[in-house]
Amino acid sequence: MSIRKILTLPDPALREKSLPVKKITANVCKLLDDMAETMYDAPGVGLAAPQIGVLKRVIVVDVGEGLVELINPEIIAATGCEVDVEGCLSVPGLQGEVPRAAAVTVQGLDRHGKKIEIKATGLFARALQHETDHLDGIMFIDKVVRWLEPKQEEQ
Ligand code: NI
Repeated sequence: MSIRKILTLPDPALREKSLPVKKITANVCKLLDDMAETMYDAPGVGLAAPQIGVLKRVIVVDVGEGLVELINPEIIAATGCEVDVEGCLSVPGLQGEVPRAAAVTVQGLDRHGKKIEIKATGLFARALQHETDHLDGIMFIDKVVRWLEPKQEEQ
């Protein structure tokens, strides 16, 4: 495993549409391992492959309930709406309030190619929506309804 460099805006890769994974190879498993290690090192609660410059539809999320790896994730149901604060490892220093569905159902594949379905609410649902957006080149800054004051520098 290795920690990869996280791209930040205005890197154009962050605005590209990522391609579905057609076949889960050793490279895809290595990508998942590197993404998890990079996310925990940052630290962050989620990471999408384009954030490390790999334009494949792969995300990892861990909001404190364990690591979730998803290949070709698709949000198949979304209900309710909640506004809460978000940031992004690719947009250091900025935070804003973003409306998201309160509950989502996401389908995708695990690293063994098995179809999985996840039902999520709260922060978990928010992280899944944020990371899935990255796969279409959409950043949270596109959806902010209110910006927070920049964080104070630590004394
Ligand atoms: Ni992000």
